[in-house]
Amino acid sequence: MNYNYHQDLQIVRVNTMPDRSYYIPCAPGKATSSKEDNERVLLLNGSWQFAYYPSFSEASLEGNSDSVLPVPSNWQMYGFDKHQYVNFDYPIPYNPPFVPKENPCGIYKRTFSVELTEEIRFYLNFEGVDSCHYIFLNGAFVGYSQVSHSTAEYDVTPFLRDGENEIAVAVLKWCDGTYLEAQDKFRLSGIFRDVYLLKRPQNYVRHYVVQTSIQQECAAISFKFDDFGKELSKSIKILDVAGTLVAEGETCDGTLCVTIDHPVLWNAEQPYLYQMVLDTTEERIVDTIGIRTISAKGNVLLVNGQSIKLKGVNRHDSYPDTGYVASLEQMVQDLQLMKQHNINAIRTSHYPNAPEFYHLCDEYGFYVIDEGDMETHGAWSSHGEREDDWYALMHHDPRFETAVVDRVQRLVTRDINRPCVLIWSLGNESGLGFNTVAAIEAVRNLDSTRLLHYESKNFMPEDQGKFNFDNLDLESYMYPDLETTEKLAQECKKPLILCEFAHAMGNGPGSLSEYYDLFYRYSGFAGGFVWEWCDHAVLQHDADGNAQYLYGGDFGEVLHDGNFCVDGLVYPDRTPHTGLLELKNCARPVHVTKQGNTFWAENKLDFADISDALTIVWTLEQNGTKIAEGSIADFNLAPHTKAQLPLSLPQIDGSRVYLKFEYVQMAEHPLIPAGTSLGFDQFDLSTEKSTVILPVSHHAVTAKQTETGWLVCGEAFSYHFNTTLGTFDSCVVDGKECFAQPAEFDIYRAPTDNDMIEAGIASYSKRSWKSLRLDAAYAYTYETSVEQSNTCVTIICPLSLVADRAAPFCTIKAVYKVYGSGAVEVNLHVSVRKDLAYLPRFGMRYFLTEDFQNCTYFGYGPHESYADKHAGCYKSKFHATVPELFEDYIYPQENGSHYDTEECTLSNAATAIKVCSTTPFSFCASEYTREELAAKKHHFELQKSGCTVWNIDYAMTGVGSGSCGPFTLEQYRMTDKEFVFDYAFLPQKKS
Ligand code: GAL
Ligand code: MG
Repeated sequence: MNYNYHQDLQIVRVNTMPDRSYYIPCAPGKATSSKEDNERVLLLNGSWQFAYYPSFSEASLEGNSDSVLPVPSNWQMYGFDKHQYVNFDYPIPYNPPFVPKENPCGIYKRTFSVELTEEIRFYLNFEGVDSCHYIFLNGAFVGYSQVSHSTAEYDVTPFLRDGENEIAVAVLKWCDGTYLEAQDKFRLSGIFRDVYLLKRPQNYVRHYVVQTSIQQECAAISFKFDDFGKELSKSIKILDVAGTLVAEGETCDGTLCVTIDHPVLWNAEQPYLYQMVLDTTEERIVDTIGIRTISAKGNVLLVNGQSIKLKGVNRHDSYPDTGYVASLEQMVQDLQLMKQHNINAIRTSHYPNAPEFYHLCDEYGFYVIDEGDMETHGAWSSHGEREDDWYALMHHDPRFETAVVDRVQRLVTRDINRPCVLIWSLGNESGLGFNTVAAIEAVRNLDSTRLLHYESKNFMPEDQGKFNFDNLDLESYMYPDLETTEKLAQECKKPLILCEFAHAMGNGPGSLSEYYDLFYRYSGFAGGFVWEWCDHAVLQHDADGNAQYLYGGDFGEVLHDGNFCVDGLVYPDRTPHTGLLELKNCARPVHVTKQGNTFWAENKLDFADISDALTIVWTLEQNGTKIAEGSIADFNLAPHTKAQLPLSLPQIDGSRVYLKFEYVQMAEHPLIPAGTSLGFDQFDLSTEKSTVILPVSHHAVTAKQTETGWLVCGEAFSYHFNTTLGTFDSCVVDGKECFAQPAEFDIYRAPTDNDMIEAGIASYSKRSWKSLRLDAAYAYTYETSVEQSNTCVTIICPLSLVADRAAPFCTIKAVYKVYGSGAVEVNLHVSVRKDLAYLPRFGMRYFLTEDFQNCTYFGYGPHESYADKHAGCYKSKFHATVPELFEDYIYPQENGSHYDTEECTLSNAATAIKVCSTTPFSFCASEYTREELAAKKHHFELQKSGCTVWNIDYAMTGVGSGSCGPFTLEQYRMTDKEFVFDYAFLPQKKS
């Protein structure tokens, strides 16, 4: 085909209608805004004939193809072309406006029937096509448009014939718009959102803008209309939730203003919507209106005059089975999960979402940063090294002005009537130049009632100082460390947000609660958006039907960014990651604190009283057993206030006494089932420390030298100590061997995604775990000595942990006392090499036979917990099987550890082995070795080790956010240099 609009920067659309606000009209007297069951809408979704061509030049409208493709979909999900995941760079040469000659093209065709009459005009709508489309009706060229995530509307009346018609659409993988769509995502193509025809009268309301303002007891709602054809007489009715008419008006021209007395305002916690019915003689438009204001007072962000916190996430349209296609059910599922995890804000990173998404956010209550379809990240590596300065390349190129401005105009015009949109965002990672300044102006001209966000402030070097940011309403940053963040919060002149922070890749994010503390500490800190909502991956199934997830590089791509797309708070199938549970509790609606013997509750919501929806339920446990419980219903507590909790607790003395308050949704809520816990606080009320009491036994214990060490025997056990390894290599209890392999000292872990730089996995790492050879450590023992008494054998084994070519990482004086009961007291005096900033972990690793499947522990659970990631966990006694303790990350890595454990027991049918200590430790029990986790690149490649691998760690370094952000904070790393690790190892026959 011979068209070339897709390589012409001045032409971003041909024959499209001017942009308008999104709505779906219906017939007079009807009451729908839906595309379904609406006689004014002919939905063209469904099966289309599809022909795939490797290049546009080969493509032909006449070509025949037996293939069919669903619309909406991405053709790569159906075996055409192939997937490619790139984040950082352009997948094509940086040569705008040109795109590769091998430009994959899909020709979509279908027929439909219409009845032509004088009175009806037909408008063809495409809500999302990547990357651009040429439309043909009955063989004639209709028009062209680009900007993947925006609507293109065509008046096709003159192209239609009565009866059957054929539509053909040529969709190209690349166009000059590709240079502005370098978002971090799988690069998928095709018609991925709805396609439909609207049947409209000759004269109709084409575009309208609703604005609300609040004056004391009254709201003014103003309308601006842009009519098509002649100016129409219009009537407006506004109904409340009960269907009662609360305001109405009529006009023949372009404006109208009505007022509502004592309006109910909209906010994310109480998303009250009025219904608008706009009638002309031949058509009706039904829409919703939320009355709310958004403003900044000094550096404080206000909704309806009340300061709010944005507890946000960044969300992409990304599904493992449907690619970019988000059905209503999928969107509702995302929103439901967000609500249930206390998320109240979404940044539509980095493009506008499907129009219905905003209606759902209005309805269910979410604050939205609506972002333009723009990112030029790839420009940074167009001239050699990756340099942020180059982001702005296209923003200085006058040829791009039309396209840049067009993108934000489409954004604002389409979504202008959505109350959920508080903030417009120009785009992401594009730098700042003349074109961005023009885009800022364009947004300002279209809408002055919202705030404007743009994070990307990189200039071309020669433009330093040329631009100012007066027209941007927020200070916004990505991934600053805590110290920098606090400084920003102290100094911000405008409301501060972190548009991205807490990179949720793999096992993480760590230190989320510290960021949340800062949100609440500083009034100018309006909150932040975790990167990101979901893992992006492509689903396939193995022969047994098990799900397997693929990421960058799995499709033979040459340029790709590996698993950097697998960085969400939910797995691709929307199973929550443990990071989401962490976020949930950081964003909990109530905080309870203890002062002396009283407990105070603070309402962290911005609008709702606690008694509106929540009941505070408390439970008192000792050693994991519930002793007392109660609930505080109807506790009136206005937002942002604090009050003492009415509570009378029984006095419990002893250790491991824990009080937990849970905030339970009681009221009916469309997305949160009554009874759902929305978070908790827990307090340690122990009056004593827990102690380790070893069983008393008068049985004798003996030690006998062997070729490789010492055999220590008691009445019901025999253990073998290996003097070369410095550990036991056999543990027989009641005639049964419990060890599959000798025990080991362990200072390493399978790197998490957040460890990639520190561990030396990323290509840009320097001094790393790998270069230090921490992964290759083994014990070098010195002279072992053994002391014997009648009831105890003491083995003293000094040793070092070494690796070839490296100086010893640490020296350890290991002392093991074996008693007649079979109990072993392990006592390790450790000194770590001074130049090692920290160790991934320090501890011992046991390899039990694989039948040790049952685990009971007293520590932070029920899911994995780390020094800097346990806000979503609480202390109690938990039971789980070893497979249940495993977190199946798509990219295998350290997982399933439990922080601050006091006791842990693993058992099989015959034997239970308990480890306990007066200094809390971390443990992990897994079917997989850390070597296996480190070696494999996909969850489905993992091979079980055939034993139960049990790590008992003096300390495990926290997880941090280092894949894109700060590495684990100093205080959460295993930095101790001189320490003693004591624990008891108690194998016991099960009775
Ligand atoms: C940010 C970017 C996001 C995402 C993230 C890494 O710089 O804005 O789109 O790429 O890094 O996951
Ligand atoms: Mg990017």
